[in-house]
Amino acid sequence: MPLLQHLILVGPMGAGKSTIGRLLSDQLQMDFVDLDKEIEQRSGATIPWIFDIEGETGFRERESIALEEVLAEPAKVVATGGGCVLKLDNRTKLEAGGLVVYLSTSVEQQLIRTAKDKNRPLLQTGNPEQILNDMAKVRNPLYASIADLIIDTNAKSPKLVVQDIIHFTQTI
Ligand code: S3P
Repeated sequence: MPLLQHLILVGPMGAGKSTIGRLLSDQLQMDFVDLDKEIEQRSGATIPWIFDIEGETGFRERESIALEEVLAEPAKVVATGGGCVLKLDNRTKLEAGGLVVYLSTSVEQQLIRTAKDKNRPLLQTGNPEQILNDMAKVRNPLYASIADLIIDTNAKSPKLVVQDIIHFTQTI
């Protein structure tokens, strides 16, 4: 059954937010929005291009605007980008916006899942393992601080993660 509030997925790059979000939207018969795709559609540019031209600051501004507008729409499944939780204002909106599910994952898994990816500019600038470890230290507590549910995705298939989330929505 569709939910009356947004179901919002947060977590680091490579946690499976887009894959799991799409599966959830099918099962719950709710629309799905991938915030990164939404930003690309609105700006008519790819994420790497936005980072190139406007830097991370420009991207974060676009991200905050897209987030605010998507959350103002009727209930959907929303997959956010890994850095969306960095701004307090975004975290406040996410927390108030619906059910927040934190998909957690280890840096080892992230490295496997993002190995061939050229579309994540923040991983192109140095040692990805170091970058992901540094991000995890700052960001993991932020994801956890706004989460209604935390799921460790390391040893679970996307289908099992979806089942856990659906089960949770039926208990609240
Ligand atoms: C980012 C994660 C990306 C995208 C951008 C920045 C981050 O989204 O928003 O490259 O800061 O972690 P995914 O988490 O979907 O890869």
